[in-house]
Amino acid sequence: MTSTSPDAPAASSPALRVQLTRRKPVERLVADAGSGEGGHLRRTLGLGHLTMLSIGATLGTGIFVVLGEAVPVAGPAVVISFVLAGVIALLSALSYAELAGMIPAAGSSYSYSYATLGELAAWVCGWCLVLEYGVSVAAVAVGWGQYVNELLDATIGVTIPDAWSQPPGSGGYFNVPALVVVVLATLVLLRGVTESARANTVMVVIKILALLLFCSIAFTAFRAGNLTPLFPLGLAGMSSGAATLFFSYIGFDAASTAGEEARDPQRDLPRAIMLSLGIVTVLYCLVALAAVGALPWDRFEGTEAALARIVDQSGGGSLAVGLLSLGAVVAIASVVLTVLYGQIRILFAMSRDGLVPPLFSKVDARTGVPRANTLVVGLFVSLLAASVPLGELANATSIGTLFAFALVNVAVIVLRRTRPDLPRTFRVPFAPVVPVLGALLCGYAMLSLGASTWIVFVGWMVLGLGLYAGYGRRHSRLADTAPEGVLPTQ
Ligand code: ALA
Repeated sequence: MTSTSPDAPAASSPALRVQLTRRKPVERLVADAGSGEGGHLRRTLGLGHLTMLSIGATLGTGIFVVLGEAVPVAGPAVVISFVLAGVIALLSALSYAELAGMIPAAGSSYSYSYATLGELAAWVCGWCLVLEYGVSVAAVAVGWGQYVNELLDATIGVTIPDAWSQPPGSGGYFNVPALVVVVLATLVLLRGVTESARANTVMVVIKILALLLFCSIAFTAFRAGNLTPLFPLGLAGMSSGAATLFFSYIGFDAASTAGEEARDPQRDLPRAIMLSLGIVTVLYCLVALAAVGALPWDRFEGTEAALARIVDQSGGGSLAVGLLSLGAVVAIASVVLTVLYGQIRILFAMSRDGLVPPLFSKVDARTGVPRANTLVVGLFVSLLAASVPLGELANATSIGTLFAFALVNVAVIVLRRTRPDLPRTFRVPFAPVVPVLGALLCGYAMLSLGASTWIVFVGWMVLGLGLYAGYGRRHSRLADTAPEGVLPTQ
């Protein structure tokens, strides 16, 4: 199973440069699809499931919680921040759609980078995806606790004390709700992909209904005067709001991690990605407009569970607050479920390539689920969610995701040049202008994140490169077929 023995004499391993830039041919990525140790992933998901998977992964903490944090930064222009963040997401979504239709592999952008930019870039991308998926699940689970408290308060008049609903450093010992939601999602995922997709579909319908309920109540309290001045904190506030809100779009790419479980990935993956992004963008802009129209922007500061507060102050009554909080609880749970799913599939693909231990690509023959992988990821994420504050996690997630998105845009440009012959079921319009713009915008958004986020990011990268040097480089399976000193032909 492993390729290059760690004990092999240095002279027999390929030159370092060749090793770091070796690429996995697209044909091999496609041929590998579905295979794991001891069993196969199952192709059971249709277009509806895949679209719901992406909406499930996208719509959650960003709109229910982070919106409340972005309004004090951007003012009523938060609606424009949402549009701007949506445009950044759209440019990258087009690239994802092209590559997902062409390379339907569970590794998503990790696999696309492997085919185009080589093993080191693929590893860096995969490592960033751990920020996008693994760490973001933890961030999302933290937001869940706020709405659980809101729901408990609205229904039975009690709340979980801070000591048990906040992490250390934010006034508590341990965030129990965050731990609980990750454990629940892990249990659902262990049952199988069809069961998980079904549960997710129900949850997505509930969360869309909850947001529509919010809009219908908040618009009744809408005051045009609340929208002026539109830019109380200038354009800088608006663009910083966009960088923060980018978090709310993360997840549209989740369908691409189901490339090995989709019935017709070439046809359905690009459609699911574009459809989900469209639906989510419209909903976000509506909700943001309703929110800042109903509550003056300077009253958002320090407000937890902002949408529930607005419903309350708009005279929605405790039933509406309860329904909205229930919607949010379900919404965020479905993000946890689907993003956890994505993380597990990405590690599955990396493990099959030998870059992470084989444990992660073992498939349970009865359920078709990578069982050990699911358990390890569930455990890691639940502990992280229980012990780290939301703000730190959300920003670390955004910077890692933006980097991965930038790589996907570059991958489209490279593959258009190196493999113009490959069939593409979806093509990015006006390439290479659109993917170049996509990559540049991702870079720009990364630069507008704060210094502390960059320090976390650099530390994360150093850790990742250390792991690659110590494990992935030596165990890569590509070494089995890449003759010494020769790059696999594309
Ligand atoms: N986009 C996801 C959310 O907002 C991460 O919860």
